[in-house]
Formats: sequence, structure tokens, C-alpha cells
Amino acid sequence: MTHIGVLTAGGDCPGLNGAIRGVVVRACAAGATVSGIENGWQGLIEGRLRPLGRDNVRGILTRGGTILGTSRTDPYVHGSGLASITPTLDDAGIDAVVVIGGDGSLRTAARLGEEGLAVVGVPKTIDNDINDTDVSFGFETAVQIVTDAIDRLTTTAEAHNRIMVVEVMGRQSGWIAVHAGLAGGAEVILVPEVAYDLEDLARRLIARHDAGSAYSVVVVAEGVEAPTGERVLAGRDLTGFERLGGIGSVIGAELERLTGFETRVMILGHLQRGGTPTAFDRVLATRFGVRAAEAVLQGEFGTMVASRGTEIVLVPLSSSVAEPRSVPQSRLDETAWFGI
Ligand code: F6P
Repeated sequence: MTHIGVLTAGGDCPGLNGAIRGVVVRACAAGATVSGIENGWQGLIEGRLRPLGRDNVRGILTRGGTILGTSRTDPYVHGSGLASITPTLDDAGIDAVVVIGGDGSLRTAARLGEEGLAVVGVPKTIDNDINDTDVSFGFETAVQIVTDAIDRLTTTAEAHNRIMVVEVMGRQSGWIAVHAGLAGGAEVILVPEVAYDLEDLARRLIARHDAGSAYSVVVVAEGVEAPTGERVLAGRDLTGFERLGGIGSVIGAELERLTGFETRVMILGHLQRGGTPTAFDRVLATRFGVRAAEAVLQGEFGTMVASRGTEIVLVPLSSSVAEPRSVPQSRLDETAWFGI
């Protein structure tokens, strides 16, 4: 009987519980056993496992976060690679691991896979920056949260004739900024993929105000560089991971100085990752989980489940993590009519 370990690693996102449930339901239907690994790779290093059966995943589909916990612990950074997780796998008799993670965790999974771990990846991230899949779950929910925030911030900006700068997540690519900026009708959308000129932007905002709309919403992705050419950091976490945050305040101060318009800044932060997933993300996460369990049962290791059109397919894990997925030029060109 196959024994599958499942873990969630990296930053959380809405839909993780749906993906866990998908793996468990499909695996149990095939007579396989599933163990939940706590706190990402850390649980494999420390031997923290718990059985996951049909009863343990009841009622979790709608819940944000992850019932297993997550961390940014990496066996290659905080352990000795494959050797640091092998004792747990051997003791528990785990045959294969389903890794539900973002680009960092999936890169680690790919490396472990090359060294012999039987592994299947499931892409999750609100940033939507994983290659070879049309979309990752969590993204749609984040876009909806940001769009709701922009709608609310727009009415207060209008009431006060202000510029409202909204900083959103997106470390390496501007997917959330582009989608929520378009959905919320932002005047300016700044993303890591496109260079910007503050004086140009200020002229645009002044022209808009002169034409009668005396307020503007500016959406900025956290990974956008400051005019000095550096990304703005809020600090580092205990694993050394760079915490981005603050570019909105830099841009806001400059726009206020250049335009003379009163400006406020809202950094949406982790609000974008919390709470219940949208119906779209619940379905996508469930389908990803089911396909990942099937991949294990069929011995299709070193792969990642991916969304292509309306289908869920398997792609090589190594190619999906080779580089981050940027917003393509065609999408940037479309968006240019509305703010980029
Ligand atoms: O990678 C996803 C993400 O949500 C990024 O957009 C953000 O920069 C980061 O995680 C925040 O991570 P943490 O929860 O560790 O602060």
C-alpha cells in the first residue's frame, strides 16, 4: 500500500487546505495512506508527522491558511539536504512526498527529486510567478481582496482629492498589481517588469487632475525598485528571507512632492493572503491535489501539476522552477492603455 507524505512550505495562501483535501480524498479512495508533515520541510527534518484520513480533512476546504502549518525552513540551508529528511521518511515508511509550495519550495523539491526523492509538486502562490502553469491557486483570491480594497480606497481618495498609493504583493512579478489595477480602474500600475519615470507619472496625474478627476489611485507591486535602483526592504525573517515592503511610501512621498497633491499610502501586506479562498481557487486547489495524488499512484515523479487551459496536466518540476514567471509583454501592452 502506497504511503504518501504531504507538506505545505513557504508563505501560505488561500487554497492550501483544498489542495491537502484533494490529495487525501483521492489517495484514500485508492487505498493509500497519507501522512501530513507539519511546518513544511521542518517537519521532515524533525520527524513531525500526523495521519491524514478522510475525517481529518472534513470542513477544511473553506478555511484559509494550512492545517499542517508552514515554514521557510530548507533542508539544504537548515540541514544536510536529502540526508536530513531520509530518517523521517524511512522510519514512517513514506514512499513519496507531495510538496505544495511556491518557487523556493518547489526548487528545493526539484533538487531533492534529482537526488532520488520520489516527489510531486503542487504550485501555490498569490504572486502567480511559477512557470509552466497558467495560474497558481491563491492568486485569484488575492486579486479579489486587492480589488475590494482599491474600490474602497477610491471613494476616500475622491472625497479628499488625494492620490492614493496602494502597495500590493508581488516579489518578482506584477501579476497582482496588473489584475487588481485593471479590475479596480487604477490610474497608474507599477510592476517590477517595467521601468518607470516619476516625473512622467507626476505629469500624467497633474493632467488628469486638470481634466477634472482630482484624485488618482496608484498601484505599486512590492518588488518595484526605488528610484535609487534598490528594492525596499521591511527587514529579514529568522531564516534570512528578505521581507519586501515600503516602496509605496517612497513613491507616494515623491509623487506628493512633484505634484503638490496630498497623498496617502496603503500597504495591504498579509491581508492579501488571509481568509477563505474564492470558488475558483477552491476548485483549482482541489483539482491540483487530486492530480498530484494520481501522479504519485502512477509513479510520475519529478513532476509538477499545472493548469493549461481547462485541463490539469503534469510538467517537469525542474523546468517550472528554472526562472520566475513574469507578466508577458503582450499582457503589459494590453494594460498600457490603463496605467502601465
Ligand atoms: O511569495 C509570496 C509572498 O506572499 C510575497 O508576495 C511576499 O513578499 C512574501 O510572500 C511575504 O512573506 P512572509 O509571509 O514571510 O512575510
